[in-house]
Amino acid sequence: MKLVTADDSAIAEAAELLRQGGLVAFPTETVYGLGADAGNPAAVQRIFSAKGRPANHPLIVHIADMEKLEDWAYQVPESARKLAERFWPGPLAMVLKKKPSVPFAVTGGQETVALRVPNHPVALRLLRAFGSGIAAPSANRFKRISPTQAVHVAEELGDAVDLILDGGPCRIGVESTIIDLSGPRPVLLRPGQITRSQIEAVLQTELSILAQSGTRAPGMMTVHYAPTTIAMRCPAERFKETVQALLGQGRKVGLLSYSQTIAAHPEIHRLDLPARADGYAKSLYAALRELDRLQLDLILVEQPPETAEWQAINDRLRKATVPFQAWPPVPE
Ligand code: TXA
Ligand code: MG
Repeated sequence: MKLVTADDSAIAEAAELLRQGGLVAFPTETVYGLGADAGNPAAVQRIFSAKGRPANHPLIVHIADMEKLEDWAYQVPESARKLAERFWPGPLAMVLKKKPSVPFAVTGGQETVALRVPNHPVALRLLRAFGSGIAAPSANRFKRISPTQAVHVAEELGDAVDLILDGGPCRIGVESTIIDLSGPRPVLLRPGQITRSQIEAVLQTELSILAQSGTRAPGMMTVHYAPTTIAMRCPAERFKETVQALLGQGRKVGLLSYSQTIAAHPEIHRLDLPARADGYAKSLYAALRELDRLQLDLILVEQPPETAEWQAINDRLRKATVPFQAWPPVPE
């Protein structure tokens, strides 16, 4: 494994590694991706072993611009073109019918393929230098927190990745919005920074929401994005009393809050996140990682409001945490 600043020569080296079937981690505006040549099933297979991810979980193919849609998707609907024009490059992945040439290794055996043009200068330069699609899931081990900095990728994957391009911290910090346009009606598979209503405004139609399934979109599974320390979420109005109760039980707690000020205490490790959704999203995964390293008894997360701008964050928090009531019982 080699971690390098993403300058011209590093990008050229990365493109060459991809051509040879290697694995390259690179920054996008959402999270770091673990990339392989999307046209090379053996290279794509290496992504699954590096991540410890089951082979039936499909990957997103990253492309350099919307003109490349036709290289991967079959019968591209008008709705996809409209969304691409409005949101690409950007944090939106679209699931479309795949062309026969797209390897099943990439699509997890499905007849559809997810495509996205990332909005990050390093990702775009890499895509242009490589000249074809790069299959890339988030560069974390299966079910772990997505990396938003190059060092996180190194911690997660070590020598399983050949080269890590360091492009600094990711600007958005949560994964892209995914929309399925392969069926009769558009379906929102994963919320992200681009909101449901922004997409509905472009499509002039309502989006269906994916029923909780699991295998189709692993990002939708209930256990996902999880730290190793048990993490619990707690409504803002009960946060303080819950912290008091935990301290009364002599527990070492990590706190992730955005509005509550909890007094300093030797058994408390407190991280204050920004009170705005965009700032919060950008720091969330790094904060969870930091708390996870401290060998705490538990991490307590203050639940953000249930508004549209917090939807992607709440979705990830629901997957990374359990409701506080579950364990241990709070003495009322
Ligand atoms: O922001 C992002 O999308 C990041 C960066 C690296 O681009 N990538 C990412 O990839 O989050 P990953 O693999 O961690 O999540 C991809 C999601 C999975 O939930 C997967 O199930 C879904 O995309 N997906 C991919 N292809 C699909 C398909 N053909 N049908 C349904 N879901 C698909
Ligand atoms: Mg992921």
